[in-house]
Amino acid sequence: MVSQDLSWVGLEVGDYKIDQKLGEGIFSSVYRGVHLKTAQQKAFKVAKPQDLVSKRQAKDCLSTRAIAQITGGTMDVLPDAAKLLRTQHAQLSMVSQSGWIKVDRLVDQPGLTYYEMELVEGETLRQLMIRQSITVDKTIEIARSLDKLSKSESLRYHGDIKPENILVTKSGITIIDPGYFGRLDLVNGSNLPNCAITTVAYYPALEPDDLLAFGLMLWEVVLGIQPTAKTSFSQESDLSRIGGNLLEMVRLQEMVGKYFLSNILNVPLPSSVHPGIGADLENLLLKSIRLKVNMSGQIDLDPGFRSFGAIAGALAALRLKGTEQFLAK
Ligand SMILES: Nc1ncnc2c1ncn2[C@@H]1O[C@H](COP(=O)(O)OP(=O)(O)O)[C@@H](O)[C@H]1O
Ligand SMILES: [Mg+2]
Repeated sequence: MVSQDLSWVGLEVGDYKIDQKLGEGIFSSVYRGVHLKTAQQKAFKVAKPQDLVSKRQAKDCLSTRAIAQITGGTMDVLPDAAKLLRTQHAQLSMVSQSGWIKVDRLVDQPGLTYYEMELVEGETLRQLMIRQSITVDKTIEIARSLDKLSKSESLRYHGDIKPENILVTKSGITIIDPGYFGRLDLVNGSNLPNCAITTVAYYPALEPDDLLAFGLMLWEVVLGIQPTAKTSFSQESDLSRIGGNLLEMVRLQEMVGKYFLSNILNVPLPSSVHPGIGADLENLLLKSIRLKVNMSGQIDLDPGFRSFGAIAGALAALRLKGTEQFLAK
């Protein structure tokens, strides 16, 4: 008998023996199962019991969180973990292109909700980033995958692009674990509109903006820093460095109680983090998070890239000029 509240390792689930935990977030755990007869492998994503979710609700900006936008600000909320998994299964069932994870059946009983999916042989982009510096070609491959996915008719955005949700395999990129934006059912039985299940370091405006998330991720890949995460760098905020439009945008967000973008005012110039960074890469990085250096030498807003295809093109141009590897590890 399987249950949600203990580790699944060692259990038999249908014809599968669970032999390993693959990962764990705030709302769910993911296990590997091996078919008892054929040895074929599958992944099982299991909703956590609600009392564990309540204890573990994270506050840090690099974990997936459930946040409601309310009058005057934002607040962390406690969603129903089983419902989240059902929603995610429904989202992933709608898409069939290669590049998205392929999900199988959903099992949904009182006290036990999980879904089965293909097991991806590979590692997350995060694991790869920890092991080695990332090649420009790899970032082009990810941008091209996301370009294809962004044209999907059924799921218009992913909503939680980050290194933990990108699996890198020998044959390409697989995206897992989409986020959610909209009305959310909470454990207390109520529901709230304007909620986000996402990672604020990559979605600081709490909008399903995958292009900005990719840009913020690129900063981490290239420079090893996260421009909107509080812990990423400690630089005294010198507002004379910041152009009027960027300052106004942050102030407007703050007026409605949204502070996740405020740290962007501390953003360093990439070449001040790594003196080896040339003007082309510096401009690309700034543009990827919709910034530029304005005529007065200040960091200010820019329209940014129009599409993942445009970012992939700019990265490919950089590659053609001879940059093969990024510096951060
Ligand atoms: N289908 C899969 N194949 C291989 N590893 C997976 C698969 N799904 C998830 N994982 C691993 O488990 C981790 C957590 O899975 P994810 O679906 O992102 O859950 P969470 O919602 O808790 O973040 C991933 O970062 C990845 O390392
Ligand atoms: Mg995840």
